[in-house]
Amino acid sequence: MLKVLNHPLITHKLTQMRKVSTGTKDFRENLDEIAGLMAYEITRDLPVHTVDIVTPVSPTKAQELAKDIVLVPILRAGLGMVNGIRDLIPTAKVGHIGLYRDEKTLEPHEYFAKFPSNMPDSIVMVLDPMLATGGSASAAVTMLKKRNAKTIKLVCLVGAPEGVKRMQEDHPDVDIYLAALDEKLNEHGYIVPGLGDAGDRIFGTK
Ligand code: PRP
Ligand code: URA
Repeated sequence: MLKVLNHPLITHKLTQMRKVSTGTKDFRENLDEIAGLMAYEITRDLPVHTVDIVTPVSPTKAQELAKDIVLVPILRAGLGMVNGIRDLIPTAKVGHIGLYRDEKTLEPHEYFAKFPSNMPDSIVMVLDPMLATGGSASAAVTMLKKRNAKTIKLVCLVGAPEGVKRMQEDHPDVDIYLAALDEKLNEHGYIVPGLGDAGDRIFGTK
């Protein structure tokens, strides 16, 4: 399933991120805020279970989240989405996947992986602002499936049709959530119109 989260607040903030004139501080703050807004939408259908509680007035039955949530940012740029979602789900655990895309071949290379222990029973959200060729997201999901993750959602800001297609072919069981589906990739594998190199803009490395 592909879901593009059309919401005026998300769209407005994404427009600020797209502008070449936006600096690191505003880029990061808007990313934080969009990640939180996206999480609110994506978590609508999370399973809940009934628990017995006692309010100051009486015992009652109430509902709590039934599953653990694990956030898995793809380093580096995915890190920029963690805080905004954790503000909403403070109990979420965080795993990390280190991948970088070779600038010539566009192939992803793994350099780090660390996960919490409850992957098979958790709802795992893979975070990366950019879904370009889909190579990094697909490799990340393969790594998670090797750790027996069963429910995986991919959360990206901007996607290209090429990346969506790749994910749907490689991992048809993974739901994809985007803030925007852009036009295409250019000859360097950048999303058009996109927002440039997300990692560099978040961390100020260019
Ligand atoms: C970017 C981006 C994604 C990947 C998307 O990361 O954050 O992880 O490229 O491209 P793909 O869909 O074609 O794989 P990059 O490799 O530049 O690393 P960085 O986050 O450290 O900058
Ligand atoms: N990675 C980015 O950061 N931006 C793109 O447009 C494509 C891949």
